[in-house]
Amino acid sequence: MITIQVNASKTYDVHIGNGLLDQTGKYARETMGGEKVVIVTDDIVDGLYFSQVEDSMKQYGYQVLKFMIRNGEQSKNTKNYIALLNFLAQQKVTRSDCIVALGGGVPGDLSGFAAATYLRGISYMQIPTTLLAMVDSSVGGKTAIDLETGKNLAGAFYQPNVVVCDPQTLNSLPDHVFADGCAEVIKYGVILDEELFYWLRSPIIPQIERIIARCVKIKRDIVMQDEHDHGVRQLLNFGHTIGHAIEANSNFTVSHGSGVAIGMCIAAKISVSKGLCVKQCAEEIEELICAYHLPVRTGFTAQQLCLSALSDKKRSGSSINLILPERIGCCVIRSIPVDDLEKVISVGLANAGHN
Ligand code: GLY
Repeated sequence: MITIQVNASKTYDVHIGNGLLDQTGKYARETMGGEKVVIVTDDIVDGLYFSQVEDSMKQYGYQVLKFMIRNGEQSKNTKNYIALLNFLAQQKVTRSDCIVALGGGVPGDLSGFAAATYLRGISYMQIPTTLLAMVDSSVGGKTAIDLETGKNLAGAFYQPNVVVCDPQTLNSLPDHVFADGCAEVIKYGVILDEELFYWLRSPIIPQIERIIARCVKIKRDIVMQDEHDHGVRQLLNFGHTIGHAIEANSNFTVSHGSGVAIGMCIAAKISVSKGLCVKQCAEEIEELICAYHLPVRTGFTAQQLCLSALSDKKRSGSSINLILPERIGCCVIRSIPVDDLEKVISVGLANAGHN
């Protein structure tokens, strides 16, 4: 087992190890008080792991309640958020009780935002069961729900009390969901960790525990410097501005990981065109992404992508930051005037052989 401590506005541990689902009650008891635990999960994870976590929680004296949503991004909505708050109130959950997010980023983000706002804040635990949630969304305290007007538009920075990752849960993931997480892992390699990038050229499963730990450590170090996303944390958005634009243009039929994968390729090509990195760097990024069976091309135009990117919450005034690689393991944040964005994206698409 590997334990990584995060010292942000809250200090907490991220535990990573096979079989830890059976220890979740122990970690809950050590880090959160209370009598009741509300486990928020989805209708797929429920059948796979709920009873294991429930048993462990009961063993440590908790009364267990369940709030279930449908699997998928569409569940991260205001209706489920309000329903969860009402459920907590109806069940007389108090400030000393706690919420447990069991599943991927959707139960994680929804639970975290409910925990941040119910009674002005109660304890919560993350038990991520997807690679993406393990390496990204369960750590660092970004919580949010989607509004009709856009993704993640209402949320809070609110750190969990503890995170428990059991890599055995990855065995039940469909290949495309696992690949989504791989896109985020590749991202960490490109932005800050050349060695990790090269580890990914070997099969990932046999080294999954150390890879998850490496990503969590990178994220921990970034969050500890910039919890509220004003500076260096923006590096974690490598591939995301264009990736989100691709997701939005596809009406979310393109997954987050696929969008980010294409976004990283386009960003790398923009970087080459600006003379920030050599062509070989962009080629290496694209090769690794292809090796994980992730897409590297989009049919959307620069105009379509630019329009979506400009309504992204990461825009600030008359400019938008893009994260561009200088080499594997080193990226820079570049402010692009919004008036130039379409041209910049079209250069990235053209160099990538799009359209
Ligand atoms: N997922 C990006 C971040 O936590 O900042």
